[in-house]
Amino acid sequence: MPGDKDKQPLSKEQQLDDLAKKLAGTKSKAAPEVRAKLEKLMQQLALQESSSGKEKKTMEEHKFWNTQPVPKHDEQITDMGPIEPSIPVDQVSKEPTALPKEFEWCELDMNVEKDAKDLYDLLTLNYVEDDDAQFRFDYSVNFLKWALQPPNTRKEWLTGVRVASNKKLVAFISAIPVQLRTFDRSTLMTEINFLNVHKKLRSKRLAPVMIREITRRSHIHGIFQAVYTAGAVLPKPVSTCQYFHRSLNPKKLVECGFSRIPRNWTLARMIKHFKVPEKTTIPGFREMQQKDVPQVRALVNKYLDRFDFAPQFETDEDVEHWILPHKDVVWSYVVEDPTTNKITDVVSFYSLPSSVIGNPKHKTLNAAYLYYYATDVAFAGGKETTEDGAPKLLSKRLNELVLDALIMAKRFGFDVMNGLQLMDNGLFLQQQKFGAGDGFLNYYLYNWRCPDVEDNKVGLVML
Ligand SMILES: CC(C)(COP(=O)(O)OP(=O)(O)OC[C@H]1O[C@@H](n2cnc3c(N)ncnc32)[C@H](O)[C@@H]1OP(=O)(O)O)[C@@H](O)C(=O)NCCC(=O)NCCS
Repeated sequence: MPGDKDKQPLSKEQQLDDLAKKLAGTKSKAAPEVRAKLEKLMQQLALQESSSGKEKKTMEEHKFWNTQPVPKHDEQITDMGPIEPSIPVDQVSKEPTALPKEFEWCELDMNVEKDAKDLYDLLTLNYVEDDDAQFRFDYSVNFLKWALQPPNTRKEWLTGVRVASNKKLVAFISAIPVQLRTFDRSTLMTEINFLNVHKKLRSKRLAPVMIREITRRSHIHGIFQAVYTAGAVLPKPVSTCQYFHRSLNPKKLVECGFSRIPRNWTLARMIKHFKVPEKTTIPGFREMQQKDVPQVRALVNKYLDRFDFAPQFETDEDVEHWILPHKDVVWSYVVEDPTTNKITDVVSFYSLPSSVIGNPKHKTLNAAYLYYYATDVAFAGGKETTEDGAPKLLSKRLNELVLDALIMAKRFGFDVMNGLQLMDNGLFLQQQKFGAGDGFLNYYLYNWRCPDVEDNKVGLVML
């Protein structure tokens, strides 16, 4: 979410210690197992807080979602498979979903500058804001072109609604193809994103019309399952991940109202705390190049196999599109072993700024989001664990890798690195000084029953 603000003043580390000490009535540092339990508890509490804060509706109140092939809020799922059967493609309706007569459907072509600009203008003024309306996502035109035109996509999946009389774009929804593995089943799905209705047309039930239409447009191509994420609590998340934020420019974050200076700290102390080294630390760390694509594909796919909910990069073209650096959009780095020339690690992040709303000093928060990463230490790292029970060598390597990514992000002028509590992020978030944010991202599946997935088993990063 845009600028899901840092909950500092106290770091999670400090909070956990405070809590453990209070519970134990001692001043000593909490034992690792107590800390681990407390950490899980705090996370659960935060989760409950977040869902209740968003006032979860009952199934009856979900006038749209209770008509759709999604699980009920309280359903415990132990099996996997479609909720309703696929329809033969020739029986899928050829008629677009009915719209109120003032509006008409359109397809956006991101290679046509006017279409790209129309979409940018809609989103930059109307897309996701934080709860206090201080920040709003500001995806760049280049980002949108990249995110919406991967290999094997369909032009009719960039679905807009325009006002019939003046052709103004007032709503949008997109689909792209994704080969998603849930546990041991791999399915071609559509990944739905960028659902947006103009502020002036909210609460008029246009979103369900958009969702029905993109569903029909998936069905036409023989795809009957979808994956999507939302901050909103809908029936029923397959997983929920918390946002974390690593400050790179504390002064600006404080001025924007994104971070607060911790209790008993000064800004100078905060700046010192978040300073990153000038130079990257891992020998052989360099920008990813075209020639690395096949190795990176093999490494990332192997790494993602360790999770229960992950995409599969089926072709080199997929990796070339999604992971190879893309100017001002995606930054990717590899570690090349100097003796074998083997790529042993990869780490990437993407740029997603937020507009800072109504701030006299700053217009834009430059946020980098942690994206895919992988390391071969995961396969050869040995069984040794840290006092918290984490795999020792994998932890060490991911900390080095992410620190180098932070150094690069700082060098490119990012104010903050955001990430979710998914994949192996739990092994480095704390040590790399990420603080827990107040946002959560829910993962959903459409027409696919699937048991709940732990956050650290989620391997899909959505944009
Ligand atoms: C999300 C958005 C399109 C919903 O439109 P709206 O005008 O608020 O709501 P509508 O009256 O059209 O539709 C309400 C229905 O859409 C559902 N809905 C709301 N947000 C949703 C989301 N993000 N994903 C799927 N369904 C959503 C509601 O639950 C409700 O269905 P229900 O009655 O079964 O519960 C709109 O609020 C918006 O553009 N917000 C800013 C951008 C944003 O948050 N996009 C979603 C990113 S995940």
